[in-house]
Order: sequence, then C-alpha cells, then structure tokens
Amino acid sequence: MNSETPRVMQQGSNLSDNAAKRYLQPSNFMGYGLRNVRYAGWLMPLIVVIFPLGGLSQDSVATHSTDKEAASKADFEIRIGKRYVNAFCSRCHGRDGKGARGPDLTTGKFRYATSDEELLRVIQQGIPGTDMQGRGVFEDIQLPIIAYLRAAALQPDHRQAPSGNAARGYELFKENQCASCHWTGNQGGRQGPNLSRLTAPPDYVRNSMLDPNSQVDLEYQQVILLLDDDKICSGRRLHENSYFLLLMDQQENLHAIDKRSIREIKRPHESLMPSFSDKLSRGDIEDITTYIYSIQQEPRQ
Ligand code: HEC
Ligand code: HEC
Repeated sequence: MNSETPRVMQQGSNLSDNAAKRYLQPSNFMGYGLRNVRYAGWLMPLIVVIFPLGGLSQDSVATHSTDKEAASKADFEIRIGKRYVNAFCSRCHGRDGKGARGPDLTTGKFRYATSDEELLRVIQQGIPGTDMQGRGVFEDIQLPIIAYLRAAALQPDHRQAPSGNAARGYELFKENQCASCHWTGNQGGRQGPNLSRLTAPPDYVRNSMLDPNSQVDLEYQQVILLLDDDKICSGRRLHENSYFLLLMDQQENLHAIDKRSIREIKRPHESLMPSFSDKLSRGDIEDITTYIYSIQQEPRQ
C-alpha cells in the first residue's frame, strides 16, 4: 500500500492518516511487535485478527466519498473493533465484551468514563488496584474498540436484571456459608473474590453458583504441594516465581514456600467453590443474586 491509502478509518473516530496507514499494513504491525519484545505476547492474537484485515480492507478502498461509503467505513471499523475485543479483552470481559468477571462493556454506561476521551484513558492506562491493566501503545486498536462499544450499546438489551428477594437471599447466603470464602463489605472470607465490589453481570453471577468450574480464574488457582518432609500443603496460590510460592491455606494463613523444598506440585483445574446446582433452586439463585447486587459499594477512585 502506498500514499494512496484511503482514509478508511476516518469515519467514526479521529484516527490520523498515518495511523490509518499503519493500521492497514499488517507487515508494519508485526514489525512493531517484534521491535518491542515487551509486547511480543500480543503478537499471536494480532496475527489471528490481522489476516481477515487484508480481505476486508479491499472492500473499503474508496476512490471518492459518498454517504454510503462513509457508512460502510464506519461499519468496517465497528466489525474490526469487535474482533479486537474478542482477541484482547474477552478473557476478562467475556465474548463480544458482554461481561464475565470483568464488566459488560456494551451497555453504554461506564463507571469510570463518560466521554470517548475518558474511555480511551481507561483503556490506555487501566484502573489502578484492579485487574484492569493499561493496554499500552496500541492506539490503532483502541479507536475501533471504542467504535464497537458505542455501536453495541445501541443494540436492544435482552439481559435480565436480578428480580428476587434480597432479604431471603441474605438468609440463603448465610445458610450456605458463602461468607466463609467471600468478603461482603465488612466481614467474610478471602478465599474467593470480594462480592461487595462485583463487576460481573447478573448471568455470570447466576452461573457461578451453578457451575463454578466453568469460570476458574488464575487468580484463584488452587495448588497442592507435597513437600520434602512429606507434609502436604494446599490452598490458593497468591504469588509464584522461580524461587518461591506464596499460598493461603483454608484458614487464611500465609505460607511462603521455598521451591527447593517442593517435591511435587499439583494444580487442579477445579474451582475451590463447590457447585450449588443440586442445593439451590432457580428462585434461590435469583434471591441470592439480588442480595449480592444489593451490597455493592461505590467504585474505587
Ligand atoms: C485481566 C483482565 C482484563 C482484561 C484483559 C481487560 N480488562 Fe477491562 N476491566 C477488567 C476489570 C476487572 C474491570 C473492572 C475494574 C473495577 O471496576 O473494579 C475492567 C474495567 C474496564 C473498563 C471500565 C468499565 C467502567 O465501567 O468504567 C473498561 C472501559 C475496560 N475495562 C475496557 C477493556 C478493554 C477495551 C480491554 C481490551 C483491550 C480490557 N478492558 C481488557 C479486567 C480486564
Ligand atoms: C470454599 C470457598 C467458596 C464457597 C463456600 C463459595 N465460594 Fe463463591 N467463589 C469461590 C472462588 C475461589 C471463586 C473464584 C472463581 C474461581 O474458582 O476461579 C468464587 C466465585 C464466586 C462468584 C463470582 C465472582 C467473581 O467476581 O468472579 C460468585 C458470584 C460467588 N462465588 C458466589 C458464591 C455464593 C453465592 C456462594 C454460596 C452459595 C459461594 N460463592 C460459596 C469460593 C467459594
């Protein structure tokens, strides 16, 4: 592609000509990753999303602008943005950004942003103290993502807000000892996530009670260690490097274990959270979900 490269990305964002050119040139994109070894991890998903770009950009090569072309360019940007979301964000924000452990990004409402500029800042810089890390330098990726998130927010919403009885939910929460593992604002355990600062959408919360193994997070990975002195130690892995492993046992005691003293290490891919699918009815789950949303605290910052 040469200096004739069309202004494909102009519509719906203020991407510069230069950025648009870089965007359309997969070879540059990959060189970028290779020069910046720090970002090499990005490379694989990039390659996966880049290939269709070639084909798509052909449709978008315009010689003169008409409204129809402008609309199809905007549409192109939105489609690419969706692919980027699935490549870079879905691990935490779910398929199409519709929410998993991380919040649903397609509702049009953000806790940390209103304008596109603020949204860009969140995506670039992350949110301190949360899993949301800054996404670095890829402006070329961020603008289509924002175009997609804005467009998705205009689609009709079929999700169901929790509609149970919070007081009954609280009783069930106590009865089932959920608080032994979950912090609820001023009390509770720390084996699982803090439920008073939930960012997940309702369906994710409902499903977490039915099928916890479907959403095991690395942050809550369980490890079982067989030590040199034949002792067994198990719990939640808090930190690990080449030299030691820090874990929290079921009583919430911390153990820093020298890796040289570990004879065997098992990492079961099962959630510590038991399934409640045969203990709780549909109504119970709705009540608990309603209770959990009733105890949400204000976001940090
Ligand atoms: C490692 C997990 C993770 C990844 C990957 C991730 N996010 Fe996030 N993100 C989160 C979490 C968790 C939050 C909620 C933080 C909070 O409010 O406590 C969040 C919050 C956000 C917010 C703020 C939402 C609001 O209500 O204001 C935006 C916007 C966002 N993420 C966009 C993205 C985009 C775009 C990507 C991909 C380029 C991405 N995130 C990748 C975990 C992640
Ligand atoms: C033995 C500890 C334990 C018990 C008991 C437990 N949980 Fe969990 N829960 C966890 C862990 C660990 C996770 C993190 C998911 C994973 O395994 O990666 C989790 C995840 C969740 C999530 C998803 C939250 C998020 O941010 O991802 C919800 C909601 C939840 N639990 C609700 C409950 C409810 C309601 C009960 C009681 C009916 C309960 N839990 C009982 C350990 C527990």
